[in-house]
Amino acid sequence: MSAATTFYVTTPIYYVNARPHLGHAYTTILADTMARYRRLAGDDVFFLTGTDEHGDNIAQTAAKAGVSPKTYADEISAAFRQAWRALGISNDDFIRTTEARHQKVVQGILRTLWDKGEIYLGRYGGHYCFGCERFYTEKEIVDGKCPDHQTPLTWIEEENYFFKMSKYQRWLIEHLERHPDFIRPERYRNEILGFLRDQLTDLSISRPRTRLEWGIPLPFDDKYVTYVWFDALINYVSALGGPGDPRFEKYWPHAQHLIGKDILKPHGVYWPCMLKAAGLPVYTHLNVHGYWNLGGGKMSKSIGNVVEALALKDKYGNDAFRYFIMREMVFGLDADFSEEAFVRRFNAELANDLGNLVSRATTLIVNFVGGLIPAPPSFAAFSTDVPDALGRARSEVAAAMEEFAFQKALAALWEFVGVLNRYVDTSQPWALAKDSTQRARLDGVLYTLAESLRCLGVLLAPFLPDAAAKIRAALGQTGEPKLADAEWGRLAAGTRVQKLSGLFPRIDERASGATRSSSTPPAIQAGRAPLVTIDDFAKVELRVAEVLAAEPVPKSKKLLKLTVSLGTEQRTLVAGIAEHYAPADLVGKKVVVVANLEPAKLMGVESNGMVLAGTAEGTLAVLTLDRDLPPGSKVR
Ligand code: MSP
Repeated sequence: MSAATTFYVTTPIYYVNARPHLGHAYTTILADTMARYRRLAGDDVFFLTGTDEHGDNIAQTAAKAGVSPKTYADEISAAFRQAWRALGISNDDFIRTTEARHQKVVQGILRTLWDKGEIYLGRYGGHYCFGCERFYTEKEIVDGKCPDHQTPLTWIEEENYFFKMSKYQRWLIEHLERHPDFIRPERYRNEILGFLRDQLTDLSISRPRTRLEWGIPLPFDDKYVTYVWFDALINYVSALGGPGDPRFEKYWPHAQHLIGKDILKPHGVYWPCMLKAAGLPVYTHLNVHGYWNLGGGKMSKSIGNVVEALALKDKYGNDAFRYFIMREMVFGLDADFSEEAFVRRFNAELANDLGNLVSRATTLIVNFVGGLIPAPPSFAAFSTDVPDALGRARSEVAAAMEEFAFQKALAALWEFVGVLNRYVDTSQPWALAKDSTQRARLDGVLYTLAESLRCLGVLLAPFLPDAAAKIRAALGQTGEPKLADAEWGRLAAGTRVQKLSGLFPRIDERASGATRSSSTPPAIQAGRAPLVTIDDFAKVELRVAEVLAAEPVPKSKKLLKLTVSLGTEQRTLVAGIAEHYAPADLVGKKVVVVANLEPAKLMGVESNGMVLAGTAEGTLAVLTLDRDLPPGSKVR
C-alpha cells in the first residue's frame, strides 16, 4: 500500500439557477467516495464543494423570480447544502462565491495579474440582446436572432479587460505532453489538445457594471465586474485561503478536480493558463466524467425528471443510490439512467449477491458456533483461495481508485463477493456441522467467512458507508475503519458475531413502479406457446445440480431416481430418461434442474424438482454445462 499523503479533491461549484439534481449528485458522490477512500487509506484529505452565484444567468433568474440575486442565491445555495447533508456527503468545506473570503482572493489574483501586465484593456464586439442583457455566441444564435426572444441581435462593441491567454498556448501543449494524465480519461485530454491546434484567443474577463452589477468588481477599475468563469474557477484556491495561507501551501500542490464533460474547456484551458500567469502551481489532475441521459435523451434542467431521479435515494436509500450510479456509469463515458436498471442491479447485486452473503454467513456463524469466532485455521492445511481473492480485490480497488474508475473498483469487490458465495456453496458448512470429525474444518470455514466479511466491511466503507458500518458492527468491529485493517488474519478469536439479515431487502419489481420500457409483446404466433413475461420466467428457479447417484425406479421402464447436490442441499428427483441413459452414465454429470417445482410422487418416489432435457425425433439429451460451474449455480 502506498504511503499516506495529502489529498485535495473538488467538485464544480454549482450554479444557483437550478435545484440539485442527479447530475450534481453524481459528481458530488464520486468526490465523496474518493475523499472517504483516501481518508480510509490514512491520507490527510480536504474535500471541497460549493455554489457559483454570480453572473448574467443568475441575475436574470432572480429578476424573473422577483427577488434580489443575493436572496435567490441564498435560497438555492442552502438547497444544495441540504441535499448534500441528506446524501451524507463528507465535504470539509462549502464555498460560496458571494462570500467575502472568496472575493478577497479573486481580487488579489486579479491585482497580481494586472501588476504583472497579464491583463489589458481592449475592445470587445459581439451580438447583444437587449431583452436578455447579454451577448450571444455565433453558436447560440438561431437564424440571426436571439434564441429566447426571437428578436434581431445588435452588434455592440465595448471596452473590456482581457487576460493574455494566447501567450500560454505553447506552454499548455507542452504541459499536456509532459504529463499525459494531467487531463483524464484520455479522450478528454485529446479533446483539449485538438482544441489547442487552433490559435488560442485572449479571454475577456470583465463586464461593464452599466450592464451587469452582479459580480466582483475589478480591483483596478471598479466600473467593471469579473467575468463569471474567472470568478468561479478561483474558488478552488480561495477556499484554502489563497496563496500564502498555510492551508493553501499544504493542500494546493495535491489538487485534483472532478468535473462533468460540459465544463472541460474552462477547466482544461482557462484555469491552467490563469494559474500559470499568476505564478501558481497548476492542479495535478483534471478528472472528467460523462453525462447522464434519461430515457435515452440528454438530460436537461428544464425536465423535472432529473430531480425525480435524485428522489430515488429517498425511495431506495443512499447506499443503493450511490452503488447504482457508480456501478452503472463507466467513468468518462455517458450512461442512461432508469429506475428499471436501478431495481435490476439492486435486486441482483445488493439484495442477492451482497445481502444474501452477509445474511447466510452471519447466520451460519451464529447457528453453528454460537456467534463466537473460532481460532483461525492453519493455512498449511487450508486453501488460500479466499485470502488470495481478498488480496486481489484490494489491489484492484487501489488501482481503480488511482484513476477514478469507480465502476472497476466495485466490480473488483463484487468479484470477491462472488468468490465468497461460491465458497459457502462448495464448503457446505451445514454438512460439516453434522459430522463431529469435521469440527476443525467447520471452524476454518466459518473463520474464513467471518474474516472475509470483516475485510469487506472495511473495503466497502467509501462506497456504501451505511451498509459497511452495519457489516462491521455485526462482526464486532468498533471504531473508525482503516484500509490497513483489510489485511487477512486480524480477526481475533472469540469476537462475537451477530446475525445481519435484510441489509438490502429485495424490491418487488411490480410494486417499484419501475416498468419496462419495451413495447407491448407481439401477438402470440400460431403454433408456439404463449409469450411469458420476463417476470413470469423469473419465477422458475433453474439451478446447476451434480448427479451424486442414479438408480432405476422399480417396476418402471422410463424412470430413474437421481440423487443430486444443489450445493447447499441434496435432493431426490425422478426423471423419465431411463430409455436414453444408463444410471452410471449420469453420475458425476452437472445437469440443469427446475429447483422450485412442487413435489410430486412418481411410481411411489417423491420427486423434488425436474431435470431439463431436449428431445427431437426420439432422441433425448439432458442439458449439461459447457463450462464447469459449482452445484447450486443459478441458471438464467
Ligand atoms: N458553475 C459551473 C461550474 C463552475 S466550476 C468552477 C457549472 N455549474 S452547473 O451547476 O451547471 O454544474 C455543472 C456540473 O454538474 C457538471 O460539470 C457535472 O459535474 C454536473 N452535471 C450536471 N448535469 C449532469 C448530467 N446530466 N450528468 C452528469 N453530470 C452533470 O457548470
